[in-house]
Amino acid sequence: MLSHLLHLEGIESVVLESRTRDEVEGTIRAGVLEQNTVDLMVDTGLGDRLKREGLVHTGVELRFDGHGRRIDFEELTGRAVTVYPQHEVLKDLIERRLLDGGDVRFGVTDVAVAGHTTDAPTVSFVDSDGTPHVLAADLVAGCDGSRTGTRSLVDPRSDMFRQYPFAWFGILAEAPQTSEELIYARHDRGFALCSTRTTDVQRHYLQVDPDDSVDNWSDARIWDELHTRVDGDGAKVKEGSIFSKSILQFRSFVCEPMQQGRLFLAGDSAHTVPPTGAKGMNLAIADVWVLAKAMTRFVQGGDGSLLDAYTATVMPRVWRAQHFSWWMSTMLHTDPASTQFDRQRQVAELDVVTGSVAGRTLIAENYTGIPFENR
Ligand code: DHB
Repeated sequence: MLSHLLHLEGIESVVLESRTRDEVEGTIRAGVLEQNTVDLMVDTGLGDRLKREGLVHTGVELRFDGHGRRIDFEELTGRAVTVYPQHEVLKDLIERRLLDGGDVRFGVTDVAVAGHTTDAPTVSFVDSDGTPHVLAADLVAGCDGSRTGTRSLVDPRSDMFRQYPFAWFGILAEAPQTSEELIYARHDRGFALCSTRTTDVQRHYLQVDPDDSVDNWSDARIWDELHTRVDGDGAKVKEGSIFSKSILQFRSFVCEPMQQGRLFLAGDSAHTVPPTGAKGMNLAIADVWVLAKAMTRFVQGGDGSLLDAYTATVMPRVWRAQHFSWWMSTMLHTDPASTQFDRQRQVAELDVVTGSVAGRTLIAENYTGIPFENR
């Protein structure tokens, strides 16, 4: 996205990707796009397939104590989210960069940034055919995910972590949609989420122990557990044939600053959120929206003030997303160390939040995403 936004301003970039194009385009990740992400894709010419194939969701259901409460995004905020998987976004971006003559290298190895505290940083790497290269750059973006190599170059910096006593077991199934909207269910046995990918493929998650293994989960056990945690009050999980099982770990992480000299971190190289609320990719896109504008100002006019302010500009949104993801996670999951008091307090919290317009609006505003201009 950063490369695409820079291209629209006439600025050249080279994208270095360690995985193959097939791996990038085939890895299942999150699936919910905030309104900001949808608007940015549409406004920059990436909206055709998204508009055709994306499923617009104008609300979600939170279930607890056997009942469902709907959060109506449209009525509360005038905004919505779109279910369109992250790897489909990547396919659209890659296709567009290549059509526009962009330089995207897949399968590169030995990427190393040097001289980022000078005016002439370089990036060395080995191409997929084994040819070594050294690029001279004006600016370098570290968009290399949570297993980043670039973060360690930002020194000194502070790293802030939080661990959680749970993980998600995720499945993909060929099945009808359980409901028209996503269901987030809190249950004493643990959280469950019914999401979707297309009308025929569903994505569901169950809270499990972080040390659990997919081998412990037969198809029958998965459906039983989904029924126990979700069914009731008219809702019933619709079964089908499961074709993918995986475990996702939970972690919150922020590093600060997100820059040094000519190097700027964006997305998971600088921060990670737990999945509840689906903020990860949306936050990365919000980072590069700010970064593209700052880089453009610098490259076109020699004015580095927006670049200097990059960390300070993005941090409020980063922390709001951290708060929302932490809050949704802790409000909806069952902490194995919780007492009866904690569990009843948690149900009361869900009742308070979903039982008033103010509470529902708070969820709706954050879920659909704070508009870029308001950070
Ligand atoms: C999905 C993931 C999320 O983290 C979430 O909050 C909602 C949906 C998904 O993968 O569909």
